[in-house]
Amino acid sequence: MVANRLDPWHGAWFHPYSFVDLTVNRAPDEGTPDEGDGFVVDVSFKLAGRVVVPVRAVFTAPEPRTVVMHIVEGEGEGSVVETHATPIGLDAHGRPRTAVVEAVVCASERPGFALARAAAPLMRPLIRTAAGRLWRDDLAYAERRWALRASGRFPG
Ligand SMILES: [Fe+2]
Repeated sequence: MVANRLDPWHGAWFHPYSFVDLTVNRAPDEGTPDEGDGFVVDVSFKLAGRVVVPVRAVFTAPEPRTVVMHIVEGEGEGSVVETHATPIGLDAHGRPRTAVVEAVVCASERPGFALARAAAPLMRPLIRTAAGRLWRDDLAYAERRWALRASGRFPG
């Protein structure tokens, strides 16, 4: 899951139903030291049809099993999504199991955000459906990546 979160490019080809116009502006090894460490990603989140929300997000890994995404520009600027992956032992087939806990803090100083909150009951089912699909696809990505790594055929 950590590898998934630190692969921002996958949003474009793996989640085309939710993300459009995804550009990775900077990878951690491309910036100067004062720019900090992390991925800087411009992306538009598809709400419905042609309704998209463009944002700039910065992904960092403050700890080995933690990835944090900060929305630094666009709607919801100041929002944070923090993902923790915790190993919880092996399943009956000897495959590692992982608990993934994600904390989402939405914030905005923008006047439009109050309007967005008023519309939240309408938007919530849409967003929940999109988030559920993202989760299922990302879990499949993580499991495939683990299977490839465990087979020794994949260097990551
Ligand atoms: Fe994903």
